[in-house]
Amino acid sequence: MILECKSLAIGYENRTVLKDINLTIDNGDYVCLFGDNGSGKSTLVKTLLGLIPKLKGDIIFSKNISQRSIGYLPQRNDSLSDFPASVFEVVRSGCLNRIGLRPFFSKRERKRVEDMMEILEIKNLEYRSFSELSGGQQQRVLLARALCATDKILVLDEPFTGLDGIAAKKLYETLDKINKELKVTLIIVSHFVEDLLKYANKVIHLSQECLFCGNPEEYKQHMRKEFILSRHQFLEVGDDHDN
Ligand SMILES: Nc1ncnc2c1ncn2[C@@H]1O[C@H](COP(=O)(O)OP(=O)(O)O)[C@@H](O)[C@H]1O
Ligand SMILES: [Mg+2]
Repeated sequence: MILECKSLAIGYENRTVLKDINLTIDNGDYVCLFGDNGSGKSTLVKTLLGLIPKLKGDIIFSKNISQRSIGYLPQRNDSLSDFPASVFEVVRSGCLNRIGLRPFFSKRERKRVEDMMEILEIKNLEYRSFSELSGGQQQRVLLARALCATDKILVLDEPFTGLDGIAAKKLYETLDKINKELKVTLIIVSHFVEDLLKYANKVIHLSQECLFCGNPEEYKQHMRKEFILSRHQFLEVGDDHDN
């Protein structure tokens, strides 16, 4: 177990978005978090990261993990795309938590920045201005930045949105490598269900008041049942209409 939620309720001030969330994430998991728009995916992620307070229940981390040691790629937001800095500086800013109160970056951090740029295949962009890059390149830079912050858990909120097919495929492969080779636990929010199911070993599906957590096979069965139920309702409505 790396992280566990027990009877967790999430939301804002007096508005509960989801409650009774019980789930466990294990070391090395590749988790995909699915759900319709507005179902609470970003809210759950931000609560896990401690960016917004939980309403009820518990979030328990294993001993060697804290909220600060989670790398985070927020849902895409355009204000970041004209960030006036070089690629190197953006990636290096991911080390800020590591340097703590020291006023400078050490050789170790420089090495880490270079390793992460290598893994994300952006070494050739090192001196380019972040704002001049394509969406896919910017995404890889931000991913390198998030990886500088952690070697344990990485949370990505809708990383594939806005990428073309080739950039998305490359990102799937890179993420798989980060999970399998660097042994980083991944939590990925996405609505590209089919593609992610090829890689993930755990699926969390959020829908109104209901939360499914299981492996991809169990998830497919769960969705088949949901589909049959919804089709059934649809046919009943259809029958009424005929009468
Ligand atoms: N800062 C906020 N204050 C109040 N309600 C919010 C805030 N952010 C999101 N919400 C609401 O919480 C619900 C879940 O939103 P969100 O977690 O962003 O969904 P998702 O990421 O699954 O699309 C939505 O109904 C949304 O309108
Ligand atoms: Mg969201």
